[in-house]
Amino acid sequence: MFIDVSNLKKSYTSGAVRNEVLKGVEMKLDRGDIGVILGPSGSGKSTLMNIIGGVDRADSGRVHVDGVEINDLSDDQLTEYRRRDVGFIFQFYNLVPNLTVAENIEVVSNISKSPLNVDEVLEAVEMKDKKRRFPRELSGGEQQRVSIARAIVKNPKLLLCDEPTGALDYQTSRSILKLLQQVNKEFGTTILMITHNTAIAAMANRVFRLRSGKVVDEAVNQVIIPAERIEW
Ligand SMILES: Nc1ncnc2c1ncn2[C@@H]1O[C@H](COP(=O)(O)OP(=O)(O)OP(=O)(O)O)[C@@H](O)[C@H]1O
Ligand SMILES: [Mg+2]
Repeated sequence: MFIDVSNLKKSYTSGAVRNEVLKGVEMKLDRGDIGVILGPSGSGKSTLMNIIGGVDRADSGRVHVDGVEINDLSDDQLTEYRRRDVGFIFQFYNLVPNLTVAENIEVVSNISKSPLNVDEVLEAVEMKDKKRRFPRELSGGEQQRVSIARAIVKNPKLLLCDEPTGALDYQTSRSILKLLQQVNKEFGTTILMITHNTAIAAMANRVFRLRSGKVVDEAVNQVIIPAERIEW
């Protein structure tokens, strides 16, 4: 089991009000699988993903990733885990505006222990010819390609995607999903993806439905549909 989340709980307190966001989440994902998390707004999807990615900490429960108990790591170890093992892709691309495409990727590869070759990664996301451009000179889909390149250049074990196509049109979304599927195949990267689009679940090995801080349904797909054949 690559990801093994068990009885995970998390609450936030603001003033006198305590908000239980995760109420005992159970989730398992094998190495090399694609997992999709569905669920209404506010159900705790991003909170769960941030804990798995070492950005936030749980109150209690277990989060094993590749045999390591994330909750037991010191702050320094957690930072190291996040830097070395996890790639993040968000709805908004979070590129550094005054760096070129290539530089946005190099800043990550420079601090990585075993980075992939920058040009190869740019080739994989079909952005090599635009590597001297700045983010503002790119379309939304192109910016998302660069952010995927930035996330995969450090060769992470785990790629966490929080609504990666949320800001993109239909065709561009499909090409981004195809790219993620390709990364999964080519590099064996385990992918966990949050989406509001139930059709996207067809490209996943496992689909988790979160509601009010719990996984209320889990499905295993025996047949994985290539992203370019998914329609919605
Ligand atoms: N840092 C925080 N401090 C206080 N409350 C928070 C914090 N982060 C999240 N929450 C609360 O936790 C709940 C779950 O938030 P979360 O972002 O995980 O939802 P989500 O399922 O990702 O929703 P969406 O689909 O809208 O992105 C929400 O009620 C939110 O207000
Ligand atoms: Mg969210």
